[in-house]
Formats: sequence, structure tokens, C-alpha cells
Amino acid sequence: MILSIESSCDDSSIAITKIENNELVFHKKISQEKEHACYGGVVPELASRLHAIDLPNILEETKPYLNDLKAVAVTNQPGLSVTLLEGIAMAKTIAISKNIPLIPVHHLKGHIYSLFIEKEAILPLLVLLISGGHTQIIRVESLEKMTILATSIDDSVGESFDKTAKMMGLGYPGGPVIEQLALKGDENAFSFPVPLRNSKLIAFSLSGLKNAVRLAIESLGGTENLTEQNRSDIAASFQKAVKLHLLQKSKKVFADEQIKDFAIVGGASANLYIRNAYEKLCAEFGKTLHTAPLEFCSDNAAMIGRYAVEAYKKELFTDPYEIDIVHTKKRQSGTLL
Ligand code: KG4
Ligand code: ZN
Repeated sequence: MILSIESSCDDSSIAITKIENNELVFHKKISQEKEHACYGGVVPELASRLHAIDLPNILEETKPYLNDLKAVAVTNQPGLSVTLLEGIAMAKTIAISKNIPLIPVHHLKGHIYSLFIEKEAILPLLVLLISGGHTQIIRVESLEKMTILATSIDDSVGESFDKTAKMMGLGYPGGPVIEQLALKGDENAFSFPVPLRNSKLIAFSLSGLKNAVRLAIESLGGTENLTEQNRSDIAASFQKAVKLHLLQKSKKVFADEQIKDFAIVGGASANLYIRNAYEKLCAEFGKTLHTAPLEFCSDNAAMIGRYAVEAYKKELFTDPYEIDIVHTKKRQSGTLL
């Protein structure tokens, strides 16, 4: 079995995965959303302190499995430095004390493997990754060969949902609340610009849209003067613009890529409005859409463990005395390291 740890942002999570059949024998996640909600976003120092409390508590529960461990895996990039370090400290201690290999895991590769929890992997695959930190289309050919085909030049999809919610005084995280509000709104009430609509760039951009939302709120007299209907209409119109942007750029990638299997992963892939739009797009382009179960869309250690099973078979280990966080450029293009 492999014990995996995830602490790249505000979720403390540990999983145990069986190497021989990918079975998820243990999984627990403690989310810190409530603690960060009043700040409208994640406060790294607070997140780090909460990991230091929650991770050891979860580890206690894994005691029955500890003698069966063949390896330990941990997210070491990308993420918040101070929170990644909490997971790394725990993983390295377990690896050294039990004398078992340590597997460093790239968080985004973990999101991709959320598709394969308790399943066989389907490769090659085109993936749209929409999370709080990233918005990318990635061609996944193998564990080691993952190529970024399109990336955001500024904010991510999840971030744009969070900021829109924050501007309307709706707390954090913004994704689920915007999706729910949008159900009661008119998506044509505001004509927010679809980002990069007239650009040939195969890339994403969400910051202009955020600004358009801010101007709409100001034109209605500011956050305090918004009615429930205003909020719902803004949420629906914003979500529609995000959807059209994602679809437009995905179509351009589809035109160049022959791979038949397409997936959406990451926290924002839990959005059913976006999922439904991709169902239609995939049907139109003859592609098969894959998504992870809703519980595994946002950050979790089960996806880290599933990736680690493959990495274990290829002996992608690191020296526990040398492991460190890796600083990745946010607007990275090319190969997913
Ligand atoms: O993947 P994730 O848990 O963390 C990162 O790796 O960043 O993604 C968290 C992001 C947050 O920005 C959250 O607002 C967004 O996913 N999210 C959603 C939905 N549920 C979560 N965005 C849109 N619609 C949702 N239903
Ligand atoms: Zn994530």
C-alpha cells in the first residue's frame, strides 16, 4: 500500500491506496474552507497552522495500515510553500523512519489521476484542468509525457469564480455558490465580454471578465445595494461568459488534436453547467468525455495516491533527505514537470 499526503492549499488529506489493484482503502480530508471564508480567500499562514493540527490527527486513523506500507507519496509542487512543507515534513519522517521510498507528486498530475481512482488509466488523453490555481489544456501521453497546449495568461477559472463571489460579498470558495445562484438568474441579463474572443491565441484569460463584473456591480450601486436577483443575474451571466470562453478555445485545440478521449479535472470541474456544455461539445466532435466523481474534483490525497501507484511501478522515487518544494512558474507552458 502507498500512503499519500496532500497539503498544497487549504485541504489536509491522507489516503492509502493498494498498489496491486488501485483500491482506495482509506481516505480522509479535512477542509479549512470555513476558517478562510471570512477573508475571501486562503490565508497561507493560517492554512499551514491548520495542516499542522489536522494532518497528524488524520495520520492517527491510518495506524492499522502503517505496517503494510511500501512507499509514501506527497505533493511537492505547485502550491503554497508554507502548506506544502507541512505535508513534506510528515512524508519524509515516515519514509525515513520506515525506510521506504518517497514519491514526490506534481499536484496537477494528481488532478489528472483523479480520473482513475479505483480504475485503470485511459491514455492518451486530452485534459482541461480548471482549478483555483490553474487553467490549462494538457495532452497526456504517459506518466512522464504531459504537454501543456493552452494555459491562462492571468487568473484561473476557479480564481475568477472566487473573486466574483467575493465582489458580491458571498465568501469563499466562490465556485459552488456562484453555480447555485446562477440557477436562479438570467444569463443574458449582462453581456459580459467573452475573453480573447477575437484573438487567435490558444490561451485563457479571466482577469478582464472579473473587471467587467466589478464595473457591473458598481453600476448597480456597489455590493451593499445588490438585490438577490442582481446577484443571480450577475452569477449566471458571468458563468455563461466563462463557459463560452472555455468552449471557444477548446474547439481550437480539438481541431488540431486527434485524441478521442477528453477529460475535465480540478475543483471547477465539479460545475455541472460547465460539464453539460462539454457533454455537448464532445458529442459534436466525436470525443468521449471523462470526469472524476464530484468528491474527487477538489484537492484530495486519493488522486495523489493513484498517481503514486503508477510512479511506484516506474520507481520514480526521491531521496527523503533531499526532497523540497519545487517552485513552478504560474504561467508555465511546455512540459508539465
Ligand atoms: O482543485 P482545487 O480544489 O484547488 C486548486 O488546486 O486550486 O480547486 C479549487 C477551486 C476554487 O477556486 C473553487 O471556487 C473552485 O475550484 N470550484 C468551483 C466549483 N467548485 C469548486 N468553481 C466553479 N464551480 C464549482 N461548482
Ligand atoms: Zn488542486
